[in-house]
Amino acid sequence: MASVSIRRVLLVPTTSGSARAFSGAFTVAKRFKSTSQGLKERLSELIPEKQAQVKATKQELGKKSLGEVTVDMAYGGMRGIKGMIWEGSVLDPEEGIRFRNLTIPECQKQLPSAEGGEEPLPEALFWLLVTGEVPTAEQVKLISSEWAARSALPSFVEELLDRCPSTLHPMSQFSLAVTALQHESQFAKAYQSGIPKTKYWEYTYEDSMDLIAKLPNIAGRIYRNVYKDGKLPAINPNADYSANLATLLGFGDNAGFVELMRLYLTIHSDHEGGNVSAHATHLVGSALSDPYLSFAAGLNGLAGPLHGLANQEVLRWTMKMRDELGSTDVSDETIRDYVWKTLKSGQVVPGYGHAVLRKTDPRYTCQREFALKHLPTDPMFKLVSQLYNIVPGVLTEHGKTKNPWPNVDAHSGVLLQHYGLVEQDFYTVLFGVSRGLGVLSQLIWDRALGMPLERPKSLSTEHVRKMFNLKN
Ligand SMILES: CC(C)(COP(=O)(O)OP(=O)(O)OC[C@H]1O[C@@H](n2cnc3c(N)ncnc32)[C@H](O)[C@@H]1OP(=O)(O)O)[C@@H](O)C(=O)NCCC(=O)NCCS
Repeated sequence: MASVSIRRVLLVPTTSGSARAFSGAFTVAKRFKSTSQGLKERLSELIPEKQAQVKATKQELGKKSLGEVTVDMAYGGMRGIKGMIWEGSVLDPEEGIRFRNLTIPECQKQLPSAEGGEEPLPEALFWLLVTGEVPTAEQVKLISSEWAARSALPSFVEELLDRCPSTLHPMSQFSLAVTALQHESQFAKAYQSGIPKTKYWEYTYEDSMDLIAKLPNIAGRIYRNVYKDGKLPAINPNADYSANLATLLGFGDNAGFVELMRLYLTIHSDHEGGNVSAHATHLVGSALSDPYLSFAAGLNGLAGPLHGLANQEVLRWTMKMRDELGSTDVSDETIRDYVWKTLKSGQVVPGYGHAVLRKTDPRYTCQREFALKHLPTDPMFKLVSQLYNIVPGVLTEHGKTKNPWPNVDAHSGVLLQHYGLVEQDFYTVLFGVSRGLGVLSQLIWDRALGMPLERPKSLSTEHVRKMFNLKN
């Protein structure tokens, strides 16, 4: 087996206690020799190391406090409660996401890209999420081939999708197909046959690889059934994951769209553990529900308008604004009035605000950079840019939202529509394909580290009042 040099990135806690990674001159990166070429083999080398680290962490720090929990936090959607371990990524309110200690620009620089392409390959991001290491181009190619080889759907799942009415939301079809694929779960079968806990991760790994591999075929089938003639091309065993997804959707010949898919699938993959789709997958997985059932739960959460569905809402809202104002070429004042109209009618401005972030989302910024490079004169991009200059000021004046800046969803739709993917109801399916990479890589680690059943304590209002001696 060839000896491969792999760059390893480490997550280092800061003095403030937040798990912020060292960056720039402080980046702690180690080069070391690995004898393994394949992902599963590499993972099996890393698991004992990580298990030992977790054991030592629990022994040394087990009784330390991670912070207080207030009554406001319990009523406030558990914002800010540090109560979960998530290895793949950490979100800093000011800086944004780091995938295994790498920022998005660092991923763009360091992760292998396709021949002739510039954006990182999501296969490489998956390897990074699973191992904490930057893979070689050769290792990335192996993942592309493996996913292509595992991509076929059982015929009953194809039939199930073909029978869905085109009025059933694409996200419901997506969730339905993933749940039905549970029929294939190796984890569920192995569990029934009585495997030891030490083997859980291996079956979770196999299911996760199968499931990720099948997502483009599910997404492509939904898209073709709902919006086109239902005919689907075959997966190309020599193409990368994003190129195959683009082909299944009917945009494989458009190099710009394929590059967009590589960026899109990379940046939407993971956003630490507390967001709804990640948390739902992790929570359901903690009951030892297999990866299919767990991810379906995550997809159902992603389908909510305050989470992933916001990306369809953004374009819908922006187009409605364009239609109502009669053009994309309108004054700042007119746009400002329109934003106020939305707020005064009691609606949120989609694509703005975030539960954790307090600055412009770097996932927004990299999509903006993509647009500046590939579609600088698109009139809808111009409108999105104008909104970026106006909405934060209006939201600040409005005075409610803690973060007036744009999030990832404020930009994704305008890129997709530029290339002709204009069916907004479908956008969250693409988000879901990407989210699979993040939440399933964590699920493998959940089983490798023996994460227990998740069961936080809840209280009634009566109980809370009694705790602090208030009358009921
Ligand atoms: C993302 C989001 C759900 C975060 O929610 P949150 O953590 O509760 O946000 P905040 O603490 O800032 O909310 C405080 C108030 O500001 C409001 N607010 C937040 N973002 C807002 C927005 N974009 N437009 C209008 N009002 C907004 C909230 O609705 C809330 O109002 P309330 O007190 O009447 O309930 C919220 O910002 C939102 O709804 N954004 C629009 C939808 C969106 O883009 N979602 C994708 C997220 S990646």
